[in-house]
Amino acid sequence: MSTALPTRTLGTTGTRTATLGLGCMGMSALYGEADRAESIATVHAALDAGVTLLDTGDFYAMGHNEMLLGEALRTAPAAARENALTSVKFGALRGPDGAWNSYDARPEAVKNFAAYSLQRLGVDHIDIYRPARLDPEVPIEETVGAIAELVEQGYVRHIGLSEVGADTIRRAAATAPISDLQIEYSLISRGIEDSILPTVRELGIGVTAYGVLSRGLISGHFTRDRELGAGDFRAFSPRFQGENLQHNLDLVEQLRKIAEQKGVSVAQIAIAWVAGRGEDIVPLIGARRRDRLTEALGSLNVTLDATDLAAIEEAVPADAAAGDRYPAAQMAHLDSER
Ligand SMILES: NC(=O)c1ccc[n+]([C@@H]2O[C@H](COP(=O)([O-])OP(=O)(O)OC[C@H]3O[C@@H](n4cnc5c(N)ncnc54)[C@H](OP(=O)(O)O)[C@@H]3O)[C@@H](O)[C@H]2O)c1
Repeated sequence: MSTALPTRTLGTTGTRTATLGLGCMGMSALYGEADRAESIATVHAALDAGVTLLDTGDFYAMGHNEMLLGEALRTAPAAARENALTSVKFGALRGPDGAWNSYDARPEAVKNFAAYSLQRLGVDHIDIYRPARLDPEVPIEETVGAIAELVEQGYVRHIGLSEVGADTIRRAAATAPISDLQIEYSLISRGIEDSILPTVRELGIGVTAYGVLSRGLISGHFTRDRELGAGDFRAFSPRFQGENLQHNLDLVEQLRKIAEQKGVSVAQIAIAWVAGRGEDIVPLIGARRRDRLTEALGSLNVTLDATDLAAIEEAVPADAAAGDRYPAAQMAHLDSER
């Protein structure tokens, strides 16, 4: 096994991890059909390459993603498994038809969700445990307090947050040590730069950035005529609709010129840009195939100098994207957007 990847520490109290983490969500159908055997092979290849942080959520296809990750961990070589760090989100309440209903982060729900996640993953502890969204009915202190109890009991190692704003981050951090905030951050999703990023930096909290490729939109592989199945999140995402999609893919073509000049891929530029925003940021890569993983890991060899960064900024200025990053109903659940 290679351990040659560079590493970063998540916050002042968090864990050390390879600079890139693997997000497993797309391996459970949220981006259309996924190949189970290839997904597991991708997790194994990531671990073999030195990736350590593996991100999932108990609600990703209603436990499917955790069971898939559990199988991948069980069948990985022991040394790789020992280095693996699980990052698990909980709280989203689903329906049998796949509906996204609401969130539940009451203390008793936190413990119930954790009990099921430990079983599905087949592990005796979760490395980072976090509510996927703020439950508006439950003070964040109560949710974080419940996770802190799980830390004391050894079931969880670190407490994380997801998609919450500066006030909630402060309240959470006043309750217990927080390792990292998981939040969307990419060339075309830069909302965290105003108040959220300065707040986590002040408090010594790291960032695990997701949507670094804007769910494939700015990967350089997304084609204008791609058909999206009904179960694909992107079929409903404003950024993937009609004129918005055409506008956003025009931005990608600007990026492609810069990538070609540097002899790298568009995805590598997009990932390197996020990784370059600070040592406290760990991009989560949503690769579900080994070829995509290899491409993503190649971004670690891409250095963006001041000239590159200026060209990128000109090609894709902040706020250049057309369309919100979530449909309106889901935007309403984002404490980070208030
Ligand atoms: N906290 C939250 O609210 C939240 C929300 C969403 C996601 N997440 C987590 O963050 C992770 C990453 O998010 P994401 O999956 O949306 O991220 P992403 O990396 O922006 O998008 C992944 C998509 O990009 C495409 N892609 C093309 N080239 C790629 C390459 N070289 N490497 C990786 N992907 C490539 C893949 O499509 P093809 O397979 O079709 O090529 C894949 O569907 C998720 O897996 C999940 O664990 C968290």
